[in-house]
Amino acid sequence: MSLSVEFSILILQWYRKKRRYFPWRTTKCAYKVWLSEVILQQTRTSQGLSYYTKFTDTFPTINDLALTKEEKVLKLWQGLGYYSRARNLHATAKHIHYNLNGVFPKNYKSLIKLKGIGPYTAAAISSICFNEKRAAVDGNVYRILARVFDIHTAINSTIGIKTFQEHADSLISETEPGDYNQGLMDLGATICTPKNPNCNNCPLSS
Ligand code: ADE
Repeated sequence: MSLSVEFSILILQWYRKKRRYFPWRTTKCAYKVWLSEVILQQTRTSQGLSYYTKFTDTFPTINDLALTKEEKVLKLWQGLGYYSRARNLHATAKHIHYNLNGVFPKNYKSLIKLKGIGPYTAAAISSICFNEKRAAVDGNVYRILARVFDIHTAINSTIGIKTFQEHADSLISETEPGDYNQGLMDLGATICTPKNPNCNNCPLSS
């Protein structure tokens, strides 16, 4: 078995047993997954949960978000900081509503063109909702790959970012890229933590 297949199988097996249950993991609705990813860029899952619920209750569809006043979006966003993210969220909802017939783009290449959606968010949405093989690389993934593969390249350079993205793309599951990406997020949050990692319980320690 190749290293990448073995790596992704270990992540997926672990995720099936140990995954955390969040409301955004019970849907493949791109609008809701996008909301969750934008909120979770700002905050931990424990705090993000109540924001996710508030947003999805107040704006159950992208059209509800598009048709509201910016003030209302900013008010719900209060406490998360970086108000430009909330403005981008609203601007993108309006763009999708008015210019794309209310249909959320369905692949990485079109997602990344949207305001406020960068490589990480486009990869998360396209893998989770549309089964596209795109590695969502954030701080957790840098840490996991650096530790497991003993990579020392700095991530504060174009070449460093490219190296990690390529490495991450080469490891992603062929069949379940969304669960695989979320498995790495959970591993980074619960086992492969920045301080005192719990290597005894790591599925990759073997
Ligand atoms: N952090 C960013 N995206 C996440 C997700 N989908 N699940 C849990 N934590 C996350």
